[in-house]
Amino acid sequence: MSKQFDVIVIGAGPGGYIAAIRAAQLGMSVACVDEWKNSKGAPALGGTCTNVGCIPSKALLQSSEHFEQAQHHFAEHGISVADLKMDVAKMVGRKDTVVKQNNDGILYLFKKNKVSFFHGRGSFVQATEGGYQIQVAGAVEETLVGKQVIVATGSNARALPGVPFDEEMILSNDGALRLGAVPKKLGLIGSGVIGLEMGSVWRRLGSDVTVLEALPTFLGAVDQQIAREAHKALLKQGLKIELGVKVGAIQSGKQGVSVEWTNAKGEAQELQVDKLIVSIGRVPNTTGLNAQAVGLQLDERGAIVVDDQCRSNVPGVWAVGDVVRGPMLAHKAEEEGVAVAERMAGQHGHVNFNTIPWVIYTSPEIAWVGQTEQQLKAAGRAYKAGTFPFLANGRARALGDTTGMVKMLADAATDEILGVHIVGPLASELIAECVVAMEFRASSEDIARICHAHPSLSEATKEAALAVDKRTLNF
Ligand code: FAD
Ligand code: NAI
Repeated sequence: MSKQFDVIVIGAGPGGYIAAIRAAQLGMSVACVDEWKNSKGAPALGGTCTNVGCIPSKALLQSSEHFEQAQHHFAEHGISVADLKMDVAKMVGRKDTVVKQNNDGILYLFKKNKVSFFHGRGSFVQATEGGYQIQVAGAVEETLVGKQVIVATGSNARALPGVPFDEEMILSNDGALRLGAVPKKLGLIGSGVIGLEMGSVWRRLGSDVTVLEALPTFLGAVDQQIAREAHKALLKQGLKIELGVKVGAIQSGKQGVSVEWTNAKGEAQELQVDKLIVSIGRVPNTTGLNAQAVGLQLDERGAIVVDDQCRSNVPGVWAVGDVVRGPMLAHKAEEEGVAVAERMAGQHGHVNFNTIPWVIYTSPEIAWVGQTEQQLKAAGRAYKAGTFPFLANGRARALGDTTGMVKMLADAATDEILGVHIVGPLASELIAECVVAMEFRASSEDIARICHAHPSLSEATKEAALAVDKRTLNF
Protein backbone atom coordinates (compact mmCIF):
# COMPACT_ATOMS: atom_id res chain seq x y z
CA MET A 1 0.00 0.00 0.00
CA SER A 2 1.49 3.34 -0.96
CA LYS A 3 1.46 6.22 1.52
CA GLN A 4 -0.52 9.27 0.40
CA PHE A 5 0.51 12.89 0.93
CA ASP A 6 -0.61 16.29 -0.27
CA VAL A 7 3.02 17.16 -1.03
CA ILE A 8 6.19 15.13 -1.54
CA VAL A 9 9.44 17.10 -1.40
CA ILE A 10 12.49 15.42 -2.96
CA GLY A 11 15.64 16.78 -1.32
CA ALA A 12 16.17 18.12 2.21
CA GLY A 13 18.64 20.91 1.46
CA PRO A 14 17.65 24.49 2.32
CA GLY A 15 15.20 24.59 -0.60
CA GLY A 16 13.50 21.30 0.23
CA TYR A 17 13.42 21.21 4.01
CA ILE A 18 12.16 24.79 4.26
CA ALA A 19 9.46 24.11 1.62
CA ALA A 20 8.40 21.00 3.57
CA ILE A 21 8.11 22.90 6.85
CA ARG A 22 6.19 25.81 5.29
CA ALA A 23 3.78 23.44 3.49
CA ALA A 24 3.16 21.60 6.78
CA GLN A 25 2.58 24.91 8.59
CA LEU A 26 -0.07 25.68 5.97
CA GLY A 27 -1.96 22.48 6.83
CA MET A 28 -0.76 20.10 4.10
CA SER A 29 0.35 16.53 4.78
CA VAL A 30 4.01 16.46 3.74
CA ALA A 31 6.69 13.84 3.05
CA CYS A 32 10.32 14.76 2.48
CA VAL A 33 12.70 12.28 0.83
CA ASP A 34 16.49 12.73 1.06
CA GLU A 35 19.34 10.37 0.34
CA TRP A 36 22.32 12.07 2.04
CA LYS A 37 24.23 9.76 4.41
CA ASN A 38 26.86 10.72 6.97
CA SER A 39 30.04 8.68 7.43
CA LYS A 40 28.05 6.18 9.57
CA GLY A 41 25.39 5.70 6.90
CA ALA A 42 22.78 7.62 8.91
CA PRO A 43 20.56 10.34 7.38
CA ALA A 44 22.22 13.76 7.32
CA LEU A 45 19.58 16.35 6.53
CA GLY A 46 20.38 19.79 5.16
CA GLY A 47 21.85 18.92 1.77
CA THR A 48 24.97 20.51 0.33
CA CYS A 49 24.52 23.61 2.47
CA THR A 50 24.67 21.77 5.80
CA ASN A 51 26.97 18.86 4.92
CA VAL A 52 29.57 20.16 2.47
CA GLY A 53 28.71 23.80 1.82
CA CYS A 54 27.69 26.91 3.72
CA ILE A 55 27.92 25.59 7.28
CA PRO A 56 31.17 23.55 7.27
CA SER A 57 32.97 26.17 5.15
CA LYS A 58 32.02 28.91 7.59
CA ALA A 59 33.14 26.74 10.53
CA LEU A 60 36.59 26.28 8.94
CA LEU A 61 36.77 29.94 7.93
CA GLN A 62 36.15 30.89 11.57
CA SER A 63 38.77 28.47 12.96
CA SER A 64 41.40 29.51 10.44
CA GLU A 65 40.66 33.21 11.03
CA HIS A 66 41.26 32.72 14.77
CA PHE A 67 44.62 31.14 13.91
CA GLU A 68 45.46 34.00 11.54
CA GLN A 69 44.56 36.58 14.19
CA ALA A 70 46.61 34.83 16.87
CA GLN A 71 49.57 34.46 14.52
CA HIS A 72 49.64 37.90 12.94
CA HIS A 73 47.38 40.36 14.76
CA PHE A 74 47.17 39.62 18.50
CA ALA A 75 50.56 41.28 19.02
CA GLU A 76 49.09 44.67 17.97
CA HIS A 77 46.75 44.32 20.97
CA GLY A 78 49.63 43.56 23.30
CA ILE A 79 48.82 39.86 23.41
CA SER A 80 51.66 37.47 22.84
CA VAL A 81 51.16 33.79 22.20
CA ALA A 82 54.09 31.45 22.61
CA ASP A 83 54.29 28.16 20.75
CA LEU A 84 51.12 28.63 18.67
CA LYS A 85 49.98 25.36 17.08
CA MET A 86 47.21 24.22 14.80
CA ASP A 87 45.50 20.89 15.39
CA VAL A 88 43.82 20.27 12.02
CA ALA A 89 42.06 17.09 13.16
CA LYS A 90 40.48 18.99 16.04
CA MET A 91 39.43 21.85 13.76
CA VAL A 92 37.82 19.39 11.31
CA GLY A 93 36.20 17.53 14.24
CA ARG A 94 34.67 20.77 15.50
CA LYS A 95 33.35 21.46 12.01
CA ASP A 96 31.77 17.96 11.96
CA THR A 97 30.08 18.68 15.30
CA VAL A 98 28.65 21.93 13.95
CA VAL A 99 27.37 20.04 10.89
CA LYS A 100 25.78 17.34 13.07
CA GLN A 101 24.02 19.97 15.22
CA ASN A 102 22.46 21.35 12.04
CA ASN A 103 21.54 17.85 10.71
CA ASP A 104 19.81 17.02 14.00
CA GLY A 105 18.15 20.42 14.14
CA ILE A 106 16.36 19.75 10.86
CA LEU A 107 15.20 16.32 12.00
CA TYR A 108 13.80 17.98 15.14
CA LEU A 109 12.03 20.62 12.99
CA PHE A 110 10.47 17.86 10.86
CA LYS A 111 9.10 16.16 13.98
CA LYS A 112 7.85 19.46 15.37
CA ASN A 113 6.04 20.28 12.12
CA LYS A 114 4.85 16.70 11.45
CA VAL A 115 6.79 16.31 8.21
CA SER A 116 7.28 12.58 7.43
CA PHE A 117 10.91 11.91 6.52
CA PHE A 118 12.03 9.06 4.23
CA HIS A 119 15.72 8.25 3.85
CA GLY A 120 16.69 7.14 0.35
CA ARG A 121 16.71 8.15 -3.27
CA GLY A 122 13.41 9.48 -4.56
CA SER A 123 12.46 8.94 -8.19
CA PHE A 124 9.35 9.42 -10.29
CA VAL A 125 7.48 6.23 -11.18
CA GLN A 126 4.39 7.56 -12.92
CA ALA A 127 1.52 10.00 -12.76
CA THR A 128 -1.68 8.35 -11.51
CA GLU A 129 -5.16 9.68 -10.84
CA GLY A 130 -4.35 10.09 -7.16
CA GLY A 131 -1.13 12.00 -7.87
CA TYR A 132 2.54 11.30 -8.58
CA GLN A 133 4.03 7.99 -7.55
CA ILE A 134 7.49 8.40 -6.01
CA GLN A 135 9.67 5.43 -5.24
CA VAL A 136 12.06 5.71 -2.30
CA ALA A 137 15.10 3.47 -2.62
CA GLY A 138 16.93 3.24 0.69
CA ALA A 139 17.40 0.80 3.55
CA VAL A 140 13.63 0.41 3.32
CA GLU A 141 11.83 0.57 -0.04
CA GLU A 142 8.65 2.65 -0.08
CA THR A 143 6.23 3.93 -2.66
CA LEU A 144 4.64 7.27 -1.89
CA VAL A 145 1.93 9.15 -3.75
CA GLY A 146 1.77 12.93 -3.65
CA LYS A 147 -0.88 15.21 -5.13
CA GLN A 148 1.96 17.67 -5.76
CA VAL A 149 5.75 17.30 -5.83
CA ILE A 150 8.54 19.79 -5.12
CA VAL A 151 11.91 18.80 -6.60
CA ALA A 152 14.77 20.31 -4.58
CA THR A 153 17.62 17.99 -5.50
CA GLY A 154 20.33 20.67 -5.54
CA SER A 155 23.65 20.57 -7.34
CA ASN A 156 27.05 18.86 -7.50
CA ALA A 157 30.56 20.14 -8.15
CA ARG A 158 31.47 20.34 -11.83
CA ALA A 159 34.60 18.35 -12.72
CA LEU A 160 37.10 19.34 -15.40
CA PRO A 161 36.64 17.12 -18.47
CA GLY A 162 38.69 13.93 -18.01
CA VAL A 163 39.72 14.87 -14.43
CA PRO A 164 37.26 13.15 -12.06
CA PHE A 165 37.26 13.96 -8.36
CA ASP A 166 38.96 11.26 -6.28
CA GLU A 167 38.64 13.41 -3.08
CA GLU A 168 42.21 12.37 -2.18
CA MET A 169 44.33 14.42 -4.59
CA ILE A 170 41.74 16.08 -6.84
CA LEU A 171 39.19 17.59 -4.52
CA SER A 172 35.71 19.03 -4.86
CA ASN A 173 34.25 21.12 -2.04
CA ASP A 174 33.63 17.81 -0.24
CA GLY A 175 37.29 16.76 0.00
CA ALA A 176 38.45 20.36 0.47
CA LEU A 177 36.42 20.53 3.70
CA ARG A 178 37.91 17.40 5.26
CA LEU A 179 41.65 17.52 4.58
CA GLY A 180 43.51 15.75 7.38
CA ALA A 181 46.57 18.01 7.28
CA VAL A 182 47.60 21.36 5.86
CA PRO A 183 48.94 20.76 2.33
CA LYS A 184 52.29 22.48 1.81
CA LYS A 185 51.26 23.51 -1.68
CA LEU A 186 47.64 23.80 -2.66
CA GLY A 187 46.29 24.51 -6.14
CA LEU A 188 42.81 25.73 -6.95
CA ILE A 189 41.18 25.91 -10.35
CA GLY A 190 38.61 28.71 -10.43
CA SER A 191 38.74 31.90 -8.39
CA GLY A 192 34.99 32.02 -7.78
CA VAL A 193 33.34 31.89 -4.40
CA ILE A 194 34.56 28.43 -3.36
CA GLY A 195 38.08 29.05 -4.70
CA LEU A 196 38.46 32.20 -2.60
CA GLU A 197 36.83 30.83 0.56
CA MET A 198 38.67 27.49 0.54
CA GLY A 199 41.90 29.14 -0.61
CA SER A 200 41.63 31.51 2.35
CA VAL A 201 41.10 28.69 4.88
CA TRP A 202 44.19 26.72 3.85
CA ARG A 203 46.36 29.80 3.19
CA ARG A 204 45.68 31.02 6.74
CA LEU A 205 46.80 27.64 8.07
CA GLY A 206 50.09 27.82 6.18
CA SER A 207 49.52 26.43 2.66
CA ASP A 208 51.22 28.05 -0.28
CA VAL A 209 48.06 28.61 -2.36
CA THR A 210 47.88 29.26 -6.11
CA VAL A 211 44.54 29.94 -7.78
CA LEU A 212 44.22 29.57 -11.56
CA GLU A 213 41.31 31.48 -13.09
CA ALA A 214 40.24 31.35 -16.73
CA LEU A 215 38.67 34.80 -16.90
CA PRO A 216 40.89 37.86 -17.28
CA THR A 217 38.88 39.81 -14.69
CA PHE A 218 38.90 39.12 -10.96
CA LEU A 219 35.34 38.44 -9.69
CA GLY A 220 33.76 39.72 -12.88
CA ALA A 221 30.21 39.65 -11.49
CA VAL A 222 31.15 41.85 -8.53
CA ASP A 223 31.21 45.66 -8.71
CA GLN A 224 34.67 46.20 -10.12
CA GLN A 225 35.72 48.93 -7.66
CA ILE A 226 34.94 46.51 -4.83
CA ALA A 227 36.54 43.54 -6.65
CA ARG A 228 39.80 45.51 -7.13
CA GLU A 229 39.93 46.34 -3.42
CA ALA A 230 39.29 42.68 -2.51
CA HIS A 231 41.89 41.48 -5.02
CA LYS A 232 44.52 43.77 -3.52
CA ALA A 233 43.75 42.60 0.02
CA LEU A 234 43.83 38.89 -0.87
CA LEU A 235 47.11 39.20 -2.79
CA LYS A 236 48.62 41.06 0.18
CA GLN A 237 47.67 38.14 2.42
CA GLY A 238 49.67 35.83 0.19
CA LEU A 239 47.09 34.17 -2.09
CA LYS A 240 48.59 33.82 -5.56
CA ILE A 241 45.85 34.48 -8.10
CA GLU A 242 46.60 34.01 -11.80
CA LEU A 243 43.97 35.45 -14.14
CA GLY A 244 43.33 34.74 -17.83
CA VAL A 245 44.87 31.26 -17.67
CA LYS A 246 44.18 28.21 -19.78
CA VAL A 247 44.41 24.97 -17.83
CA GLY A 248 45.94 22.04 -19.76
CA ALA A 249 46.86 18.48 -18.77
CA ILE A 250 46.52 17.46 -15.13
CA GLN A 251 48.44 14.45 -13.78
CA SER A 252 47.84 13.10 -10.34
CA GLY A 253 49.94 10.54 -8.47
CA LYS A 254 50.75 9.60 -4.87
CA GLN A 255 53.38 12.38 -4.69
CA GLY A 256 51.05 15.16 -5.77
CA VAL A 257 49.35 16.81 -8.70
CA SER A 258 50.91 18.60 -11.64
CA VAL A 259 48.95 21.11 -13.68
CA GLU A 260 50.09 22.40 -17.04
CA TRP A 261 48.73 25.85 -17.73
CA THR A 262 49.26 28.86 -19.97
CA ASN A 263 49.38 32.33 -18.45
CA ALA A 264 47.65 35.46 -19.79
CA LYS A 265 50.70 36.18 -22.01
CA GLY A 266 50.39 32.70 -23.56
CA GLU A 267 53.50 31.34 -21.80
CA ALA A 268 53.48 27.66 -20.82
CA GLN A 269 53.69 27.05 -17.05
CA GLU A 270 53.57 24.10 -14.69
CA LEU A 271 52.23 24.00 -11.17
CA GLN A 272 53.21 21.23 -8.74
CA VAL A 273 50.94 20.91 -5.73
CA ASP A 274 50.18 18.43 -2.97
CA LYS A 275 46.42 18.75 -3.48
CA LEU A 276 44.23 20.33 -6.15
CA ILE A 277 40.77 21.76 -5.51
CA VAL A 278 38.61 22.17 -8.61
CA SER A 279 35.96 24.85 -8.05
CA ILE A 280 34.67 25.81 -11.48
CA GLY A 281 30.96 25.96 -10.75
CA ARG A 282 28.23 23.44 -10.03
CA VAL A 283 25.82 21.36 -12.07
CA PRO A 284 22.14 20.79 -11.25
CA ASN A 285 21.49 17.36 -9.79
CA THR A 286 18.77 15.44 -11.63
CA THR A 287 20.53 12.08 -11.77
CA GLY A 288 18.39 9.22 -10.54
CA LEU A 289 15.22 11.29 -10.49
CA ASN A 290 13.75 9.45 -13.50
CA ALA A 291 12.37 12.79 -14.68
CA GLN A 292 11.36 11.32 -18.03
CA ALA A 293 8.76 9.08 -16.35
CA VAL A 294 6.50 12.12 -16.00
CA GLY A 295 7.90 14.12 -18.94
CA LEU A 296 9.69 16.70 -16.77
CA GLN A 297 11.55 19.13 -19.02
CA LEU A 298 15.28 19.68 -18.38
CA ASP A 299 17.48 22.27 -20.11
CA GLU A 300 20.88 21.62 -21.73
CA ARG A 301 22.63 21.93 -18.32
CA GLY A 302 20.30 19.32 -16.79
CA ALA A 303 18.43 21.98 -14.77
CA ILE A 304 14.68 21.61 -14.40
CA VAL A 305 12.94 24.22 -16.55
CA VAL A 306 10.60 26.36 -14.44
CA ASP A 307 8.75 29.65 -14.86
CA ASP A 308 9.32 32.60 -12.52
CA GLN A 309 6.98 30.95 -10.01
CA CYS A 310 8.95 27.65 -9.95
CA ARG A 311 6.28 25.72 -11.89
CA SER A 312 7.70 23.01 -14.17
CA ASN A 313 6.08 21.93 -17.46
CA VAL A 314 4.25 19.15 -15.55
CA PRO A 315 1.16 20.37 -13.63
CA GLY A 316 1.62 19.97 -9.86
CA VAL A 317 5.39 19.43 -10.12
CA TRP A 318 7.47 22.36 -8.87
CA ALA A 319 11.24 22.80 -8.53
CA VAL A 320 13.34 25.14 -6.36
CA GLY A 321 16.93 25.95 -5.46
CA ASP A 322 20.14 24.93 -7.22
CA VAL A 323 18.31 22.51 -9.53
CA VAL A 324 16.63 25.46 -11.33
CA ARG A 325 17.83 28.74 -12.91
CA GLY A 326 19.16 31.63 -10.85
CA PRO A 327 21.93 32.05 -8.32
CA MET A 328 23.03 28.93 -6.45
CA LEU A 329 22.53 30.31 -2.95
CA ALA A 330 20.96 28.72 0.11
CA HIS A 331 18.78 31.73 0.93
CA LYS A 332 17.51 31.90 -2.68
CA ALA A 333 16.55 28.19 -2.41
CA GLU A 334 14.77 28.86 0.89
CA GLU A 335 12.82 31.81 -0.45
CA GLU A 336 11.69 29.76 -3.44
CA GLY A 337 10.69 26.88 -1.13
CA VAL A 338 8.52 29.17 1.01
CA ALA A 339 6.97 30.86 -2.04
CA VAL A 340 6.06 27.49 -3.65
CA ALA A 341 4.43 26.17 -0.45
CA GLU A 342 2.42 29.40 -0.18
CA ARG A 343 1.35 29.22 -3.84
CA MET A 344 0.19 25.63 -3.27
CA ALA A 345 -1.96 26.95 -0.43
CA GLY A 346 -3.49 29.56 -2.74
CA GLN A 347 -1.41 32.40 -1.34
CA HIS A 348 0.77 34.85 -3.27
CA GLY A 349 4.31 33.70 -2.50
CA HIS A 350 6.89 36.04 -3.93
CA VAL A 351 10.67 36.09 -4.46
CA ASN A 352 12.31 39.38 -5.38
CA PHE A 353 15.35 38.39 -7.46
CA ASN A 354 16.60 42.02 -7.40
CA THR A 355 17.18 41.96 -3.67
CA ILE A 356 18.92 38.63 -3.13
CA PRO A 357 22.14 39.43 -1.27
CA TRP A 358 25.48 37.77 -2.07
CA VAL A 359 28.27 37.29 0.44
CA ILE A 360 31.78 35.94 -0.05
CA TYR A 361 33.18 35.06 3.36
CA THR A 362 36.81 35.93 2.75
CA SER A 363 38.61 38.39 4.96
CA PRO A 364 37.72 41.14 4.19
CA GLU A 365 34.20 39.92 3.45
CA ILE A 366 32.57 40.92 0.18
CA ALA A 367 28.80 41.50 0.11
CA TRP A 368 26.39 43.12 -2.26
CA VAL A 369 22.77 43.54 -3.25
CA GLY A 370 21.26 45.01 -6.40
CA GLN A 371 23.07 46.27 -9.45
CA THR A 372 26.76 46.94 -9.94
CA GLU A 373 28.14 50.15 -11.44
CA GLN A 374 29.11 48.26 -14.61
CA GLN A 375 25.52 46.93 -14.97
CA LEU A 376 24.04 50.41 -14.57
CA LYS A 377 26.47 51.80 -17.17
CA ALA A 378 25.63 48.99 -19.60
CA ALA A 379 21.91 49.67 -19.12
CA GLY A 380 22.46 53.42 -19.71
CA ARG A 381 20.85 54.23 -16.35
CA ALA A 382 21.74 57.61 -14.83
CA TYR A 383 23.01 57.06 -11.29
CA LYS A 384 24.88 58.71 -8.42
CA ALA A 385 27.56 56.88 -6.42
CA GLY A 386 28.79 57.40 -2.88
CA THR A 387 31.62 55.57 -1.15
CA PHE A 388 32.94 55.60 2.39
CA PRO A 389 36.15 53.86 3.51
CA PHE A 390 36.33 51.81 6.72
CA LEU A 391 39.61 53.64 7.36
CA ALA A 392 37.49 56.60 8.49
CA ASN A 393 35.13 54.52 10.67
CA GLY A 394 35.82 54.58 14.42
CA ARG A 395 34.62 51.04 15.11
CA ALA A 396 36.73 49.61 12.29
CA ARG A 397 39.80 51.38 13.72
CA ALA A 398 39.04 49.98 17.18
CA LEU A 399 38.64 46.51 15.68
CA GLY A 400 41.93 46.94 13.83
CA ASP A 401 40.20 46.05 10.57
CA THR A 402 40.01 49.08 8.29
CA THR A 403 40.31 47.49 4.84
CA GLY A 404 37.59 48.27 2.35
CA MET A 405 34.59 50.47 1.86
CA VAL A 406 30.83 50.74 1.45
CA LYS A 407 29.62 51.89 -1.95
CA MET A 408 26.04 52.97 -2.61
CA LEU A 409 24.48 53.51 -6.02
CA ALA A 410 21.26 55.49 -6.37
CA ASP A 411 19.09 56.64 -9.24
CA ALA A 412 20.20 60.09 -10.43
CA ALA A 413 16.66 61.47 -10.57
CA THR A 414 14.66 59.66 -7.84
CA ASP A 415 17.53 58.79 -5.46
CA GLU A 416 16.15 55.22 -5.12
CA ILE A 417 18.94 52.85 -4.00
CA LEU A 418 19.88 50.60 -6.92
CA GLY A 419 22.76 48.67 -5.38
CA VAL A 420 25.04 48.51 -2.35
CA HIS A 421 28.49 46.93 -2.49
CA ILE A 422 30.67 46.31 0.52
CA VAL A 423 34.16 44.97 1.03
CA GLY A 424 35.26 45.03 4.63
CA PRO A 425 34.70 43.72 8.14
CA LEU A 426 31.36 41.95 8.71
CA ALA A 427 30.06 42.95 5.28
CA SER A 428 27.83 39.85 5.58
CA GLU A 429 25.92 41.49 8.44
CA LEU A 430 26.00 45.06 7.09
CA ILE A 431 24.33 44.07 3.83
CA ALA A 432 21.07 43.14 5.62
CA GLU A 433 20.18 46.79 6.24
CA CYS A 434 20.71 47.51 2.55
CA VAL A 435 18.48 44.59 1.51
CA VAL A 436 15.70 45.91 3.76
CA ALA A 437 16.16 49.41 2.37
CA MET A 438 15.92 48.15 -1.22
CA GLU A 439 12.87 45.98 -0.44
CA PHE A 440 11.14 49.12 0.82
CA ARG A 441 12.46 51.03 -2.20
CA ALA A 442 14.27 53.47 0.08
CA SER A 443 16.29 56.40 -1.21
CA SER A 444 19.89 57.03 -0.21
CA GLU A 445 18.55 60.04 1.72
CA ASP A 446 16.41 57.67 3.83
CA ILE A 447 19.55 55.81 5.00
CA ALA A 448 21.40 59.10 5.47
CA ARG A 449 18.64 60.38 7.79
CA ILE A 450 18.37 57.20 9.92
CA CYS A 451 20.18 57.21 13.28
CA HIS A 452 22.92 54.53 13.30
CA ALA A 453 24.56 53.44 16.57
CA HIS A 454 28.01 54.82 17.36
CA PRO A 455 30.58 53.43 17.16
CA SER A 456 29.44 50.81 14.67
CA LEU A 457 30.46 49.58 11.25
CA SER A 458 26.94 50.43 10.07
CA GLU A 459 27.87 54.11 10.29
CA ALA A 460 29.94 53.47 7.15
CA THR A 461 26.69 52.58 5.34
CA LYS A 462 25.08 55.82 6.52
CA GLU A 463 28.18 57.77 5.45
CA ALA A 464 28.15 56.09 2.01
CA ALA A 465 24.53 57.25 1.71
CA LEU A 466 25.62 60.78 2.66
CA ALA A 467 28.41 60.49 0.09
CA VAL A 468 25.81 59.93 -2.65
CA ASP A 469 24.80 63.56 -1.92
CA LYS A 470 28.47 64.57 -1.53
CA ARG A 471 28.10 65.44 2.16
CA THR A 472 29.97 62.88 4.25
CA LEU A 473 30.55 64.07 7.80
CA ASN A 474 33.56 61.95 8.75
CA PHE A 475 35.63 61.88 5.57
P1 FAD B 1 21.12 21.05 -1.83
O1 FAD B 1 21.54 21.76 -0.62
O2 FAD B 1 22.16 20.57 -2.77
O3 FAD B 1 20.26 19.80 -1.33
C1 FAD B 1 19.74 18.84 -2.19
C2 FAD B 1 19.48 17.57 -1.42
O4 FAD B 1 18.75 16.68 -2.25
C3 FAD B 1 20.74 16.81 -0.99
O5 FAD B 1 20.62 16.40 0.34
C4 FAD B 1 20.77 15.61 -1.92
O6 FAD B 1 21.38 14.47 -1.34
C5 FAD B 1 19.29 15.37 -2.12
N1 FAD B 1 18.95 14.63 -3.32
C6 FAD B 1 19.36 14.84 -4.59
N2 FAD B 1 18.75 13.97 -5.44
C7 FAD B 1 17.93 13.20 -4.68
C8 FAD B 1 17.03 12.15 -4.97
N3 FAD B 1 16.80 11.74 -6.21
N4 FAD B 1 16.38 11.58 -3.92
C9 FAD B 1 16.59 11.99 -2.65
N5 FAD B 1 17.40 13.00 -2.34
C10 FAD B 1 18.06 13.60 -3.34
N6 FAD B 1 25.21 29.37 -0.32
C11 FAD B 1 24.97 30.44 0.48
O7 FAD B 1 23.90 31.04 0.36
N7 FAD B 1 25.89 30.84 1.40
C12 FAD B 1 27.06 30.21 1.58
O8 FAD B 1 27.86 30.61 2.43
C13 FAD B 1 27.34 29.10 0.75
N8 FAD B 1 28.51 28.43 0.89
C14 FAD B 1 28.74 27.34 0.10
C15 FAD B 1 29.97 26.70 0.24
C16 FAD B 1 30.25 25.60 -0.55
C17 FAD B 1 31.58 24.91 -0.39
C18 FAD B 1 29.28 25.13 -1.48
C19 FAD B 1 29.55 23.92 -2.32
C20 FAD B 1 28.07 25.78 -1.62
C21 FAD B 1 27.80 26.90 -0.84
N9 FAD B 1 26.61 27.60 -0.97
C22 FAD B 1 26.37 28.69 -0.20
C23 FAD B 1 25.56 27.19 -1.93
C24 FAD B 1 24.45 26.40 -1.21
O9 FAD B 1 25.04 25.29 -0.54
C25 FAD B 1 23.41 25.92 -2.22
O10 FAD B 1 22.93 27.02 -2.97
C26 FAD B 1 22.23 25.27 -1.48
O11 FAD B 1 22.66 24.17 -0.72
C27 FAD B 1 21.17 24.83 -2.48
O12 FAD B 1 20.11 24.26 -1.78
P2 FAD B 1 19.17 23.16 -2.44
O13 FAD B 1 18.15 22.84 -1.40
O14 FAD B 1 18.71 23.62 -3.76
O15 FAD B 1 20.09 21.89 -2.72
P1 NAI C 1 31.78 30.05 -9.25
O1 NAI C 1 30.84 30.11 -10.38
O2 NAI C 1 31.60 31.00 -8.13
O3 NAI C 1 33.27 30.25 -9.78
C1 NAI C 1 33.84 29.39 -10.73
C2 NAI C 1 35.06 30.08 -11.31
O4 NAI C 1 35.78 29.13 -12.06
C3 NAI C 1 34.69 31.23 -12.26
O5 NAI C 1 35.43 32.36 -11.91
C4 NAI C 1 35.05 30.68 -13.62
O6 NAI C 1 35.47 31.67 -14.52
C5 NAI C 1 36.19 29.73 -13.28
N1 NAI C 1 36.40 28.66 -14.25
C6 NAI C 1 35.47 27.93 -14.90
N2 NAI C 1 36.06 27.01 -15.69
C7 NAI C 1 37.40 27.16 -15.54
C8 NAI C 1 38.54 26.51 -16.07
N3 NAI C 1 38.41 25.49 -16.93
N4 NAI C 1 39.76 26.92 -15.70
C9 NAI C 1 39.91 27.94 -14.82
N5 NAI C 1 38.86 28.61 -14.27
C10 NAI C 1 37.62 28.21 -14.61
O7 NAI C 1 31.73 28.53 -8.77
P2 NAI C 1 32.27 27.83 -7.45
O8 NAI C 1 33.31 28.64 -6.78
O9 NAI C 1 32.53 26.43 -7.84
O10 NAI C 1 30.99 27.86 -6.54
C11 NAI C 1 29.76 27.34 -7.01
C12 NAI C 1 28.63 28.11 -6.46
O11 NAI C 1 28.39 27.76 -5.10
C13 NAI C 1 28.82 29.63 -6.41
O12 NAI C 1 28.60 30.25 -7.64
C14 NAI C 1 27.79 30.01 -5.42
O13 NAI C 1 26.54 30.07 -6.05
C15 NAI C 1 27.82 28.86 -4.43
N6 NAI C 1 28.66 29.24 -3.29
C16 NAI C 1 28.26 30.29 -2.52
C17 NAI C 1 29.01 30.70 -1.45
C18 NAI C 1 28.58 31.88 -0.69
O14 NAI C 1 27.44 32.31 -0.86
N7 NAI C 1 29.40 32.45 0.18
C19 NAI C 1 30.25 30.02 -1.08
C20 NAI C 1 30.60 28.95 -1.99
C21 NAI C 1 29.80 28.58 -3.02
